[in-house]
Amino acid sequence: MGKNKNKNKIVVVGAGNVGEAIAYTLMLRKQASDIVLVDLNEDRAKGSALDIAHATAFFRQIKVRKGGYEECEDAAIIVITAGMARKPGQTRLDLAKSNVAIVRSITRNIMKYAENPILIVVSNPVDISTYVACQESGLPSERVIGTGTTLDTARFRYLISEELGADVCDVNAYILGEHGDSQVPVWSSATIAGEPVDQFRKAMGCKGELDHEALGERARDSGAEVIQLKGATFYGIAMMTSRIAEAILSDGNTVLPVSHVLGEEFPSYRGIAFSLPCVINGKGIQRVLDIPMDEAEKKKMEDSAETLREFLTKALE
Ligand code: 2OP
Repeated sequence: MGKNKNKNKIVVVGAGNVGEAIAYTLMLRKQASDIVLVDLNEDRAKGSALDIAHATAFFRQIKVRKGGYEECEDAAIIVITAGMARKPGQTRLDLAKSNVAIVRSITRNIMKYAENPILIVVSNPVDISTYVACQESGLPSERVIGTGTTLDTARFRYLISEELGADVCDVNAYILGEHGDSQVPVWSSATIAGEPVDQFRKAMGCKGELDHEALGERARDSGAEVIQLKGATFYGIAMMTSRIAEAILSDGNTVLPVSHVLGEEFPSYRGIAFSLPCVINGKGIQRVLDIPMDEAEKKKMEDSAETLREFLTKALE
């Protein structure tokens, strides 16, 4: 214990589709010079690491390798991706229960070596996993960051940009709450460079009204759509994880809608982990933004919190 952190080292636990895509994205974006993949299936970790390591030739000297939990000791960031995917016939709750056990055991292993690490939690159901990793690690909640609704928000922005013919980078809109069915698209503060989305759309010459409800549902169901088409989603979540890592490593004070365990400052959401827009920097979550919402949206956020609270209680039984 006690080794200084290596700003250039990231450990990814779980070398499945998602862990591998995260390691590949971190390499391509030159975010670490040392990337370590840890997996119970050591052959898979070694194979993934080698495949990515081969890709670094003619590009940049980045070490990608398989390793064990002791690698967490000096890592700047540890990413938890391990967990089962839902099997046919398995309920969301069954999945949650098995992944709670997996995330608990991984967190315990990480904490044997790491001192005050920053964890990025990806394993689904991500809000439950974030809660469990926070509880098991004993870390302050600002250092246990779930990918939350970053991906839902990215899909929402993508769909809005397609509908409006706008540059996706100009869309400022959030999906908050649960990374799951009760998530809340926040239309009341959705803008293109400050101009309300519907006003921008009209000015672009689009006919008719934008169906907010239908578009929110499409964003919500996008993950299932990709899974149905190709069996899994991984590039989107890999980019979200990479973006969170970037905010941490660059001390960026970057606003991203991530999940973490909420406390007294949000009485209606207290004791659960779910997504709100957070300022992220080298210390983890620096601050939570209270963005404007209309009454209906506030009510949906409270309902989402309640849904998660009930689900969490059952998942931890
Ligand atoms: C996704 O939304 C399945 O949570 C994963 O792509």
